[in-house]
Amino acid sequence: MKSLKYIILIVLTAFIFNACYYDQEEVLYRFNPGVCDTTNVTYSQTIAPVMQASCNSCHSTTGASGGWITDNYTKLNVIAVNGKFYGTITHASGFSPMPKGSGQLNTCQISQIKKWLDSGSPNN
Ligand code: HEC
Repeated sequence: MKSLKYIILIVLTAFIFNACYYDQEEVLYRFNPGVCDTTNVTYSQTIAPVMQASCNSCHSTTGASGGWITDNYTKLNVIAVNGKFYGTITHASGFSPMPKGSGQLNTCQISQIKKWLDSGSPNN
């Protein structure tokens, strides 16, 4: 009888730890690429890596296509404030569609950029 109690206890404990583990929001997001995290958007962790992957090759300090620069906060904030950043990545009419010559950024990246712009494009 005593060993049965132990088994029940162990099984219950396993369930409890398991539940806590999978309930953690961060763990859920990290292991579920289908989920787009628009809650923890920052310049350094979210926006800068997207610029690095899709924009800086043409818009760097040393090679600024059209005179626009995306590889540092101060210059990126210029197109954030003047509306060109959002206009170009959403391929809105009146803007030159970016990234030039390749596919549009994915919907998650666009939502994250919108979130950052809507919160005033902070340098965080
Ligand atoms: C393959 C090179 C290339 C890539 C990659 C690229 N751009 Fe551009 N971009 C250009 C060139 C060239 C121009 C100037 C000519 C034009 O406006 O089409 C330009 C112009 C712009 C403009 C001004 C457009 C306007 O309508 O006034 C913005 C803003 C911009 N790019 C942002 C971006 C962003 C943000 C990315 C990444 C998502 C990006 N670009 C990726 C080449 C590129």
